[in-house]
Amino acid sequence: MLSVSSSSKPSPVERGGVPRSFDAHARSYDKLVAANRGYHEHLRMSVRRMGIPNQGAGLRLLDLGCGTGASTAALLEGAPEAQITAVDASAEMLAQARAKTWPSNVEFVHGNVENLAMTGIIGPYDGILAAYLVRNLVHRDAALRQFYRLLRPGAPIAVHEYSVRDSLRSRAVWTAVCWGVIIPMGKIRAGSADLYRYLWRSVMQFDGVPALSQRLAAAGFEDLRVQTVPGWQQHIVYTFLGRRPAVDETAIDDAAAPAAPTPSVDPDAATPPSGIEVTTPTTGT
Ligand SMILES: C[S@@+](CC[C@H](N)C(=O)[O-])C[C@H]1O[C@@H](n2cnc3c(N)ncnc32)[C@H](O)[C@@H]1O
Repeated sequence: MLSVSSSSKPSPVERGGVPRSFDAHARSYDKLVAANRGYHEHLRMSVRRMGIPNQGAGLRLLDLGCGTGASTAALLEGAPEAQITAVDASAEMLAQARAKTWPSNVEFVHGNVENLAMTGIIGPYDGILAAYLVRNLVHRDAALRQFYRLLRPGAPIAVHEYSVRDSLRSRAVWTAVCWGVIIPMGKIRAGSADLYRYLWRSVMQFDGVPALSQRLAAAGFEDLRVQTVPGWQQHIVYTFLGRRPAVDETAIDDAAAPAAPTPSVDPDAATPPSGIEVTTPTTGT
């Protein structure tokens, strides 16, 4: 087993801001992703799991933290007729995305997803995809509440994310893949591995499956379901699905969001194709 420490001291990536670090790696990002078998298919799976109807006709969808457009392409494939707005705070990642060929129903916006109103993003939207984003945010709970408010009642969110915290096996596989492949490859392709060391560490420190489910529940999302993906990423990458309640009688108060009970999910349990339904036990009050 590799002996590597994931201490909580902020790394150079965190000190300089995560989107700024993506700027420096934007030109090599697609090549690294291409070497990660399953990356694009897993994004497409998360989009399919959102259950977007009628190819997205008449719908407005958001791809938050779109990067070089891999998640945008997945959203477009699942909803070719939707109006898709893709947002990222890294100008260089966006430049890579914009350089690709897109139909006129896709637009890219430069901005911080933690303050979408400043970026001119005004709801309601009919679905949100946030792929490999939430872990990188500074104020995750506030951001999720903001995403909730942008959605039309009944509309889905898919948070596509790494989550290894609760499983010894997942942490071991993740550590072996990062230090054996991703970090050395990042150094060769981009000349520096700082972003990829941050990737390893941020995933090790990020929420386990119940904790991220609970964040979503606390932000107001319901019908929570968690599904993993096939390949080496099984029980490492997950789709966390939720939706804004169709009848939204209780406005979420930013200052005092309801304390959600801890959902019960076994991260190592086999995931059926229908997903694990995340049950939030009642508090008895
Ligand atoms: C790992 S990349 C994922 C890109 C894309 N979603 C994909 O699946 O390939 C994460 C992206 O989130 C962006 N990001 C991180 N924090 C952000 C923020 N606060 N606002 C907007 N974008 C952010 C980064 O700039 C980066 O492009």
